[in-house]
Amino acid sequence: MTDFYAVIGNPIAHSKSPLIHAEFSRQTGQDMRYEAILAPMDAFAATVTGFRQRGGRGANVTVPFKLEAWEISNSLTERAAAAQAVNTLVFEACRIAGDNTDGAGLVRDIVVNLEFSLKAKRVLLMGAGGAARGVVLPLLEHEPCIFVIANRTRQKAYELQQQFLRQGCGNIVPVDYADLAGEKFDLVINGTSASLQGELPALPPDIFAAKSLAYDMMYSNGYTPFLKYARQQGVTRLADGIGMLVEQAAESFFLWRGIRPKTAPVIEILRSCSIS
Ligand code: ATR
Repeated sequence: MTDFYAVIGNPIAHSKSPLIHAEFSRQTGQDMRYEAILAPMDAFAATVTGFRQRGGRGANVTVPFKLEAWEISNSLTERAAAAQAVNTLVFEACRIAGDNTDGAGLVRDIVVNLEFSLKAKRVLLMGAGGAARGVVLPLLEHEPCIFVIANRTRQKAYELQQQFLRQGCGNIVPVDYADLAGEKFDLVINGTSASLQGELPALPPDIFAAKSLAYDMMYSNGYTPFLKYARQQGVTRLADGIGMLVEQAAESFFLWRGIRPKTAPVIEILRSCSIS
C-alpha cells in the first residue's frame, strides 16, 4: 500500500521537497507519495489533522510553521527541543513525534559532502532567528574551538546563548557585527534571512581565515550576496544551502522509512537546474 507524506508551508509552490523525495523513493524503491500542501496561515494544526485523516504517515514543515509544528508535537527529540522548531513530523498511532533535521543536514553537508572538519575550528554563525537556532546544537556537537553567534540585534544572540547555557551548552559567544573587527574564522555560516532581501550582514573585512569555508544556508540562482562577498574577499571554498536542503530531506526520509538515500545525485539534479 502506498504511504503518503507531504511538505506543509505557506507559500509552498516553490518547494523542492516533492522533487527531492520523489528521487529518494525512486532510488530506494519505496512505495510512497509525497505532495506539497499549502496550509492557510491560521490553520496549520487543522491542515496536519486533515492530512493524517487522509492517511498521511509523516510531514515536513516549512516556513512559517516550524514553531507551530513544535507546539503540536507530543514528543520531541533533543535537537528539536533545542531548536524550538520542528521540520519533521512522524505520525504514530496516537501521537505526533517532532524532530528537526535542519542542523543534521547542515552538518552532514559540511563534514561529509564538503569534507570540512569542524573539530577545533573557529566557527562564526550569523543570525539568531529560527533558522540559526535550529543548527546550533548539531554544530556544537562537532566541537569547534570557538563558536560565535553574531546578530544585528545583539540581544537576540545573547538570548540564544542563555537558552543553550540553560541546556548545558556553555561555549557560545554572542556578539554583534562590530564586535567581529580583527577576528578571523575558519567557517562562516550565513543563517540570516538577509539574502532574501538581496542584503548582506555588516561583516567587517578580513573575517575569513586562510582556507576558510563560506556557507550560506540560503540558495538562489547564482551566488547569494554573502557568497559574492566571500568570493571578493578571496575565499575559494563556497557553499550554498542546496546541500543542506537535500541532506535534511534525507534525514527526514530516514526517520520515516529507515533507509538512508544517496544524496549526491539529488544535489546534482538540483544544482543543474538552480545555480548558473
Ligand atoms: P528565520 O526563521 O529565517 O531565521 P527570523 O527568525 O525572522 O527568520 O530571523 C531572521 C534573522 O536574519 C535574524 O537573525 C535577523 O537579524 P535581527 O534579529 O537583527 O533582525 C537576520 N537578518 C535579517 N536581515 C538581515 C540583514 N539585512 N542583515 C543582518 N541580519 C539580518
